[in-house]
Amino acid sequence: MKYPIRQAAAWSLLASCCGALALQPASAGAQDEQPPFVVTPGQVVDRMLTLAKVSAGDVLIDLGSGDGRIVIQAAKRFGARALGIEMNAALVESSRAAARREGVGERARFERADALATDLAAASVLTLYLSAELNERLLPRIFAAMRPGSRVVSHDFAIANWAPDRTEHLNVPEKNNGRGGESVIMLWVVPAQAAGRWRGTIGEGPIYHTFEFSLAQQFQFLDAGLHGPGGAALAFGASLSGGRVTLQLPAQDKIAPGEVRAHIDADVMTGVWVSQDGAAAAPFRARRIAARPDLY
Ligand SMILES: C[S@@+](CC[C@H](N)C(=O)[O-])C[C@H]1O[C@@H](n2cnc3c(N)ncnc32)[C@H](O)[C@@H]1O
Repeated sequence: MKYPIRQAAAWSLLASCCGALALQPASAGAQDEQPPFVVTPGQVVDRMLTLAKVSAGDVLIDLGSGDGRIVIQAAKRFGARALGIEMNAALVESSRAAARREGVGERARFERADALATDLAAASVLTLYLSAELNERLLPRIFAAMRPGSRVVSHDFAIANWAPDRTEHLNVPEKNNGRGGESVIMLWVVPAQAAGRWRGTIGEGPIYHTFEFSLAQQFQFLDAGLHGPGGAALAFGASLSGGRVTLQLPAQDKIAPGEVRAHIDADVMTGVWVSQDGAAAAPFRARRIAARPDLY
């Protein structure tokens, strides 16, 4: 699969023609290729925040917040608490002033800091308009810190080989100094850690069925196998979105084929099993018994 990775060459071209770049301090970039100050057009900001379903319950962090527009819009129109992280001190000051002017000085805050050193644990939404290289370096930090179900939205730049859950292409007349262009918006939902060998139970009380299955995981994609007494695992369908897992279980012993809809919380899955014909349902619970899958 190919993702729209725009390389730093695009930024170099802009750097030679865009007056806004004078705001960028020569020494601010801790890294070799520091993304310049180029704004996300208003319609793209709106779409990014809408796609991420930003609401009053969210804490949004914009890494490389530029003139503060994403942070201010998240607070003003979507009611979120939002934090902009920006290397450029002048941009931090002007963003703070803009937030006060817009009446969201309390909910829209700005700090002068390095995006790569920012603690992302508090963010339920992360917005990015940086570069392919910085995004790649952010990937392990996103997975280490952000909770399952948190959303990441990036304008134009992919995040390494992490396939987006959604991609949209917008025609944007304002782009490229008014010459027009396209913006690509990508959305990812941070997946729970689902990999490992699990012992599941369908039913409760005196009537229950216990079985073991393995989940191998790459980002939000799962390979699942049911372990029977025979040895080799029987593959079945499984999907993951944030902490929500769906398992398409085949028939086992006295259990009809059915679907499990469960939520992963650390080493426990809880939810419900529903038979394929919808005629039967029972509680489902599973516990991770080994961190590594036992699929192959
Ligand atoms: C392309 S602009 C995006 C501005 C804003 N997020 C938007 O979408 O309109 C990138 C911004 O990131 C800032 N920046 C670049 N590298 C950074 C870093 N390591 N830490 C913090 N800010 C950084 C730049 O100064 C610039 O303002």
